[in-house]
Amino acid sequence: MSKIGVFDSGYGGLTVLKSLVTAMPEMNFVYLGDNARAPYGDRSFETVFQYTRECVNWLFDQDCELVILACNTASAKALRQIQQVDLPLRNDNKRVLGVIRPTTETIGNETQTNKIGILGTSGTIKSESYKIEIAKFFPQIQVFQEACPIWVHLVENDLLGLEGTDFFVKYHIDNLLLKDNEIDTILLACTHYPLLIESIEKVLPSHIQIVSQGEIVATKLIDYLNRHSEITAKLELSGKREFYTTDQFNDFNTHAGKFYGQSVNAVRVVIP
Ligand code: DGL
Repeated sequence: MSKIGVFDSGYGGLTVLKSLVTAMPEMNFVYLGDNARAPYGDRSFETVFQYTRECVNWLFDQDCELVILACNTASAKALRQIQQVDLPLRNDNKRVLGVIRPTTETIGNETQTNKIGILGTSGTIKSESYKIEIAKFFPQIQVFQEACPIWVHLVENDLLGLEGTDFFVKYHIDNLLLKDNEIDTILLACTHYPLLIESIEKVLPSHIQIVSQGEIVATKLIDYLNRHSEITAKLELSGKREFYTTDQFNDFNTHAGKFYGQSVNAVRVVIP
């Protein structure tokens, strides 16, 4: 029997896993954080692709039938190539899904002004993936983007709630809102950013809503599994969770609770 793999460059994907587990408590999930090589946000296309591919293959080797790239940067820079080049070479029908498509399929329903702000890593923003995908589903919507390269570091280094952190949050929110004053919806297009929600809410005008991805991805995954009984039939349903990191497991265990909402017991793995 198989499991669902959830991959992120580090801790951020745990915010998505939390929503997946809440929506599908019976499902077996394997989480892999590539903490040793994180952050991915400023890395080249080739590097993000290589790292992501290695991690996906490792999750496939752990009997994952389906892998969710719970990382926007990996979804933007590696997903298409894995889906179009790697998967067809396998004979086992395994699948890989990202977080950008499910988000862009629904985000357009949230805005009244048809103006959306996207906050993400430099890699995600430069890839223009959100602009391209939103245009497919909601061509009437204008998308404004802001890369927030320092935010992942603030989260990874446990600097939440500090004055300095609030400064850099305000800096990027102000930059985004200067691009258009009718933005009414902001997407946290990086799985780390929900951890900064308190700082974001402090500076964001109250008429602007914040959208995080966890629940969207969970709802869309349930829908996907309902439509793909050939995958669902192979999935084990005993509510088991496994956590792996490519760096120190005790560091991972210490930090993971903030993202996942409960303590975890991770095992270190060496990839590739
Ligand atoms: N969590 C990743 C994302 O959603 C970003 C973290 C990183 O830069 O590695 O894009």
